[in-house]
Amino acid sequence: MGFEVIGTGMYVPGEPVTNTQLTRVMDTSDEWIHQRSGIRQRHFAAEGQGVSDMAFEATKRALEAARIGPKDIDYILFATMTPDYVFPGSGAVLGGKLGINVPALDIRQQCGAMLYGLQLIDGLIKSGVAKTILFIGAEAHAGFMPWDDWDILEGKTDRKQTPEQRERANKHRAVAVLFGDGAGAMVFRATDRDAGLIAAKVHSDGTYVDELLIPGCGFKTRPYCQPRLYEEMLYVPYMNGKEVFKFAVTTLPKCARQLCEESKTPIEKIDWFLAHQANARINDYVREQLDVPVEKMPMNIDRYGNTSAGTLPILIDECTRDGKLKKGDLTMMFALGAGMHWGCALVRW
Ligand code: UT7
Repeated sequence: MGFEVIGTGMYVPGEPVTNTQLTRVMDTSDEWIHQRSGIRQRHFAAEGQGVSDMAFEATKRALEAARIGPKDIDYILFATMTPDYVFPGSGAVLGGKLGINVPALDIRQQCGAMLYGLQLIDGLIKSGVAKTILFIGAEAHAGFMPWDDWDILEGKTDRKQTPEQRERANKHRAVAVLFGDGAGAMVFRATDRDAGLIAAKVHSDGTYVDELLIPGCGFKTRPYCQPRLYEEMLYVPYMNGKEVFKFAVTTLPKCARQLCEESKTPIEKIDWFLAHQANARINDYVREQLDVPVEKMPMNIDRYGNTSAGTLPILIDECTRDGKLKKGDLTMMFALGAGMHWGCALVRW
């Protein structure tokens, strides 16, 4: 017994925001952002639009592709690091919008969530707990962007940004330019066909917690939400970009090679390398290390930026709809995110 993906869908909010538009609120340039990361544009969730709203839109498309209705889903797995509420989880909120009250489990492995999700889906299906699982990866990073001047960014006003606001945004420009919002949905179903998870390796290393995190608004402070956290901008992620970059390019090729060795899978037999989209340079480096042809690693970071847990489901939806991913294809997925959490998985489509 394995699983197969019977439908996928994605949703990104509003109009794309280009690199050049970002120069309205911070000192940056299309050249800097594109050279360093491969990103040209991203989308941002609107005020009041949460991950459950974006996930609902992506789910409608995935269910339509799968030709099933919400009542056919018997489990929801929701991956996000930017939930609608601190509690409850966004999976239950989505279930409410879909009109179903099945088990709903939120997971928070940031950009590495899909790999953990695959292990859970495999386990839930093999143990007979679930037959049809809705997996969501969705993020609303707009809430931690280091500017307040959304009207200036969107070109809706002639108002000028204050020097103080620009300085606040500039402090976090290296992180802010990387992230974008969106949701990807995938419907997994039990199958007797030779498909599903062949092998996976997932890891975590909490000694790296200080290299990439949101330093404030957790429950170590009383109250957990206070003006000081806004003043000191502790709601914006801190990232030691160089350290995270180094960690990714050393651990991901090693992880992929080990997985191939342990599962006796020759790397050249893999049809598609589906990589998390944090930085095009990280993916190019991993691809070169593994000696993988460029056409086997589809990328969409130029259009969406890093959508954290949303990235792999969005990429997979695009690859399914444009006819790349086909039944029987062998894929390797890999990703790394805050925690650190990282891993790779071999999946037969
Ligand atoms: O999914 C989460 C995982 N995250 C990642 O995988 C990210 C990994 N890290 C990276 O991708 C890179 O470290 C970054 C793209 C984030 C940054 O690249 P970098 O080459 O490490 O740049 P840097 O932070 O060292 O900054 C270099 C220069 C600095 O100027 P000085 O001090 O050399 O004069 C920065 O102030 O670039 C400046 N800078 C910018 N300039 C224009 C930083 N951010 C920007 C910006 N626009 N947005």
